[in-house]
Amino acid sequence: MSLPLVAIVAVADNGVIGRGNALPWHISADLKRFRALTLGKPLIMGRKTFASLGRALPGRETIVVTRDPSFKPPAGVYTASDIDTALALAEIRAKALGAAEIVIAGGGEIYAAVIDRLDRLHVTYVHCRPEGDAFFPPLDWSHWREICREDHAAEQDGDAGYAFVDYIRS
Ligand SMILES: NC(=O)c1ccc[n+]([C@@H]2O[C@H](COP(=O)([O-])OP(=O)(O)OC[C@H]3O[C@@H](n4cnc5c(N)ncnc54)[C@H](OP(=O)(O)O)[C@@H]3O)[C@@H](O)[C@H]2O)c1
Repeated sequence: MSLPLVAIVAVADNGVIGRGNALPWHISADLKRFRALTLGKPLIMGRKTFASLGRALPGRETIVVTRDPSFKPPAGVYTASDIDTALALAEIRAKALGAAEIVIAGGGEIYAAVIDRLDRLHVTYVHCRPEGDAFFPPLDWSHWREICREDHAAEQDGDAGYAFVDYIRS
């Protein structure tokens, strides 16, 4: 049986998730949450998101999806030329790691490619409306049930407030 497929995303009130291949905000609690939710698990991400991180995240196994056969990942990073290959590889790596789920780490193109196959979602709603060039895809929320919500004030004056919300497909 396939392992659950879990997406983690931080999204602004206008759907923006990125600008200029970077996050439009800095929320340290969100980065900590991402780390806690992903440690020990295989992460599938698009080549642009991998470029924006600039390295493999320690304590996790990274699978970069790219159509570019000349893409040379650093040691320890896997590549896949399509989503199905990435998912099959992630399944194998998760079992080797003893991980109970596979994480979709973005960005917009990769969320869109797997949106209909997701089992769980960890969303950070960032209460701002920045300009951006990467977006979270439309989702039919009637198939999703909120199971947990934590609202947080901005970390510093002038920053955006945010909420951590978890969903499962219902
Ligand atoms: N807010 C968040 O939670 C969050 C999370 C992650 C990323 N981001 C942001 O999102 C932005 C990046 O997202 P993005 O949509 O521009 O790019 P992306 O999804 O990270 O990567 C796109 C690339 O992935 C490869 N790709 C996509 N679909 C594929 C498929 N079906 N088969 C094979 N390869 C495929 C292609 O690589 P090649 O061009 O090499 O073929 C494509 O150019 C950045 O701004 C980043 O900071 C935000």
